[in-house]
Amino acid sequence: MTDPPYKVTSRGSAGNSGGMLQKKINKRGQVFAHNNIDCSEYAPEFYRVLKDGSHCYVMTNHVNLIKMLNTFTNCGFHFIKCLIWDKGNKIMGQYYMSQFEYIMFFRKGKGIKINHCGTSDILSVPNVKLKGDDGKNLHDTEKPVELMKILIDNSSKVGDIILDPFMGIGGAGIASQQLDRNFIGIEIDNKYYDIAMQRIKKAS
Ligand SMILES: C[S@@+](CC[C@H](N)C(=O)[O-])C[C@H]1O[C@@H](n2cnc3c(N)ncnc32)[C@H](O)[C@@H]1O
Repeated sequence: MTDPPYKVTSRGSAGNSGGMLQKKINKRGQVFAHNNIDCSEYAPEFYRVLKDGSHCYVMTNHVNLIKMLNTFTNCGFHFIKCLIWDKGNKIMGQYYMSQFEYIMFFRKGKGIKINHCGTSDILSVPNVKLKGDDGKNLHDTEKPVELMKILIDNSSKVGDIILDPFMGIGGAGIASQQLDRNFIGIEIDNKYYDIAMQRIKKAS
């Protein structure tokens, strides 16, 4: 599962943290220092490292949805469906207010059903962000641990390895710890990596 960096629009559909984030988006639709990787670089690698029968969740927005879907399916992934993360909070925009993000749900190889088939494909989990001592978000696109837990719980067993190659401040790692899964996380930005390490150690 992962939440890759991707282009956002600058008129209310960044879908992450409202007005504050809008101010941080630069003219090329970038939020982070490391925002440039193209999905064609990582999708084949995801397909290569995942085991047959794995589920793969990738978060995105409407700007990148079609390209990412095509890229992932061209790599061999089977597209199961899109889930919706209903964040509860709304962001002003010219074309309806933004309240959700897409979670593309793929599988590699054989189809294995989720563990809790009664789970809705609309996941309502409040978009709450951790703050630093300065009152600012620790990470502007942090995803809630509770959201990660739903996906991990449904698509893996105790002892499995969960991979998040764009882990930010490590919510998927904490969720993995709490569900007794092993976790491999990758993060290019040392500031976020250090926060993730601290949080994951604390959770274990
Ligand atoms: C959308 S954020 C993920 C946030 C994460 N879901 C969380 O809850 O904190 C994407 C992350 O990918 C990182 N990133 C960008 N390029 C990367 C790369 N080539 N390798 C690893 N991490 C990268 C960014 O620094 C950023 O923290």
